[in-house]
Amino acid sequence: MSTVSRGGALALTGGSPAVTLPAPAWPAAGEQEVAWMTEVVRSGKWSWVGPHEQAFCAEFARFIGTRHAMLLANGTVTLQCALQAVGVRPGDEVIIPGLTWVATLQAALDIGANGVLVDIDPETYCLDPAAVEAAITPRTTAIIPVHLYGCMCDMDALREIARRHGLKIVEDVAHQHGSRWRDVGAGALGDAGSFSFQQSKVLTCGEGGAITCDDDAVYETAFCLKHVGFLPDVTTPGNRYGHNYRATEMQAALLRGGLTRIEEQLRIREESEALLREGLRRIGGPLRAARRDPRVTRQSYYAVTLHFDPAQAAGVTREQYTAALAAEGLYLMGTYPAVYNHRLLNLYDATSPIPYRDPARVQHYASLRLPVTERVVNEEGVVLSHVPLLGGAPLMAQYLDAVAKVNDHLAEVTAHFAEAERCRSASAK
Ligand SMILES: Cc1ncc(COP(=O)(O)O)c(C=O)c1O
Repeated sequence: MSTVSRGGALALTGGSPAVTLPAPAWPAAGEQEVAWMTEVVRSGKWSWVGPHEQAFCAEFARFIGTRHAMLLANGTVTLQCALQAVGVRPGDEVIIPGLTWVATLQAALDIGANGVLVDIDPETYCLDPAAVEAAITPRTTAIIPVHLYGCMCDMDALREIARRHGLKIVEDVAHQHGSRWRDVGAGALGDAGSFSFQQSKVLTCGEGGAITCDDDAVYETAFCLKHVGFLPDVTTPGNRYGHNYRATEMQAALLRGGLTRIEEQLRIREESEALLREGLRRIGGPLRAARRDPRVTRQSYYAVTLHFDPAQAAGVTREQYTAALAAEGLYLMGTYPAVYNHRLLNLYDATSPIPYRDPARVQHYASLRLPVTERVVNEEGVVLSHVPLLGGAPLMAQYLDAVAKVNDHLAEVTAHFAEAERCRSASAK
């Protein structure tokens, strides 16, 4: 029996929305965190590696599968400290995907390295290993595979390239707490993993981040860098210049609570994504989910990676299509902008770190055009947040109803926007 009903008028043109169920609230906390927060507030131990931070780091390392984990202030300084701890130095080149949140590139630039942006895989929107290989020079020292939205990077290929060229890998796992590649945790596949716990993430304490690693020296160096030069016992000075990138006991308590629910949430999100992927395949039309790589043995969905095919949309643009779905109650987003187009990378802004580099050595971001990144950002890339996935099968069935309905009314979507444009031009005259 099909769960897909295609009936009814478009909500865009006055019909009833297909989606009536609310999405769950996010972020969310349980009673355990409320009790822990009260206890922390009364304890007087609010920072400087207290009992909740120690417990969280041990629990998170176990969850990811590394020997070490440490808690930091956010998922940008984690990248900075991890890159420095694995040995990246000013003037080194670090290979980064053209599609990621701007922080991945900023972190490399902020420690004096040159971020070299390369193109992405058209299916996963993650680093293209062939583009990585082609970008390697004698100055390259590290790669940052960003496991973006709902797909992992091809870690077999990237690890092999890194091994052959003697490069370090710092995984950016801001989107994928709990993903597993051939049963090894994202964050345990390279020399260090960098996580964000910012409020939209699948494990969150509002703001925060973690570094995971196996190597004791990487751990100690990263710890010094985030804890004003102290070693992990927090009393012995280390041999590195460090800053204050610490987090608090309150953050650690919230994260410990989140960790108690994450396995169940990962399972629900994977089930919801499978329903969506299969439902979209059955419905056909311009929208489909990214194929699941069988080497990904568990996918943590910060978002579902979707593809919009303009050739199957009867002239409806991606923006018009997602607006029609939003009217039905299904909210999809475009991807991040190409990182080289981000306003923070404006070379003419005197606060940018980029003008202080040798221009002969820094990639010219303003003129960069990576073809797959451009196509994904401008036409094809669409994502669905992880939050509604927690609504499970009933919400996914309504989402599929919304897609089926819009697909059946593409001509009306076109007519609606043509009429809106006609009215706009008429009133502008
Ligand atoms: C891929 C990626 N890397 C790094 C970060 C930076 O994390 P934070 O916001 O915690 O600094 C983010 C944040 O959204 C991200 O999406």
